[in-house]
Amino acid sequence: MIDKRYANKRGGAKTWSAGSCKWLVSWVANCLFICSAGMAGAVAATPAAGAGQPAASLQVVHWWTSAGERKSVDVLAGRLAEENIQWRDLAIPGGAGLGASKVLKSMVLAGKAPEATQLNGIVFGEWADLGLLLELDDVATPGGWQKLLFPTVWSLVHNRGHVVAAPLGIHRINNLFYNKKVFDRLGLAAPRTWPEFERVAEKLKQAGVTPLAQSSEAWQVATLFETLVLAESGPAYYRSLFVDLNPAAFGDARMTHALKRLRSLKQWMPQPLRERPWPEATRQLADGDAAMFVMGDWAKGELLAWGLNTDQDFSCAAVPGTADYHLYSVDTLAMFAGDYSHQPAQEKLAQLIMSQPVQSAYNQVKGAIPVWRAPDLSKMDSCARASWSAFSKGSAFQAPSLVHRMAADETAKDAIVAEVHRYFVDDKMSESDIQRRLASIARSVSKTGKQE
Ligand code: GAL
Repeated sequence: MIDKRYANKRGGAKTWSAGSCKWLVSWVANCLFICSAGMAGAVAATPAAGAGQPAASLQVVHWWTSAGERKSVDVLAGRLAEENIQWRDLAIPGGAGLGASKVLKSMVLAGKAPEATQLNGIVFGEWADLGLLLELDDVATPGGWQKLLFPTVWSLVHNRGHVVAAPLGIHRINNLFYNKKVFDRLGLAAPRTWPEFERVAEKLKQAGVTPLAQSSEAWQVATLFETLVLAESGPAYYRSLFVDLNPAAFGDARMTHALKRLRSLKQWMPQPLRERPWPEATRQLADGDAAMFVMGDWAKGELLAWGLNTDQDFSCAAVPGTADYHLYSVDTLAMFAGDYSHQPAQEKLAQLIMSQPVQSAYNQVKGAIPVWRAPDLSKMDSCARASWSAFSKGSAFQAPSLVHRMAADETAKDAIVAEVHRYFVDDKMSESDIQRRLASIARSVSKTGKQE
């Protein structure tokens, strides 16, 4: 049973539902396998926290380990140090937080919850319902968060009338990065449609350049795939699949088409296609070994950290057919309530995260855009401005990333990602086969219990 210290302050003792128990049981199962392995891979670092002994410290779990991500952590840790609070870093390697989310669960189960954690997506509603998270209303209400935030971000961090996470930035996933020097040398323009993409890719291939960087890692394949789904017919259909988990939508011809596109893009990717971390695929783009790359704009943070410049060395376009849309992932830090002894420092961190200077400085290095609906646009490069314009159009133009936990819970996400990956690596698997499998996943995990 979870330590009583974790009972929610405002909500008092929690009622444990059957759902909560089932969830905890799966935690335990995960923990047995992952706890030791995950902890062994953790990168613990303790940046200096200003002169003298810091008044307080916060252990922060996250998965930001690449060059650009480390620079973003440094912005937060440095700003916190100015308040005499030490950021005790617990970085769990693994793109998209696959390792971090498991290690975090095992830490909580062992009664060793960190004071703060990167906890993206709808999952923190579940954690908040268990009474584990510190409610940040004492910072959010006087700070006017509801007015400052984009409505989508406000509803994400808001659970049952309380703010339960501090939002850092909004990443766009449907970016087509391209190497500007290679494109200029070959006289190419960024493709806006799929036929244009094919023509550009053909020319690149003839010139001996790999058209499209890609890793075969499952989450990276699925990240590409979700952009293709969005390209098929926009956010409404996307949501019927990944938010509503409507089984019938998975049998639709648009799904068949997106799957075929995923498979046909393989011809433009490096051969043999290897499983590699996303910064390595980004490196291929930076070096001009590959000319285009579809990835969340944390890849831009990486390119900038390596000294490349937007619109000189690389540029961003939208994945063909998605220029009007924003496939988003919002990074957030949630705080564990514990015995409340860290509450002043945790609230200070939340307050800093939402301050204008930190929003601006952090997001410039991270590659994301601020969560404020009216940020300082003068600090943004062309990629960030395009992202901000698309996101500002409102929810009808926004699509929550499945892979980055914005659309469905971990179980549904993992099952769908695994099937898409299987289809991608096994050319013998037919579209109808995988569509049947996806529909059956949707049928079994759909909260609405919708049937075909
Ligand atoms: C995403 C996260 C980003 C970045 C990326 C690569 O899920 O939102 O901040 O870390 O994973 O690991």
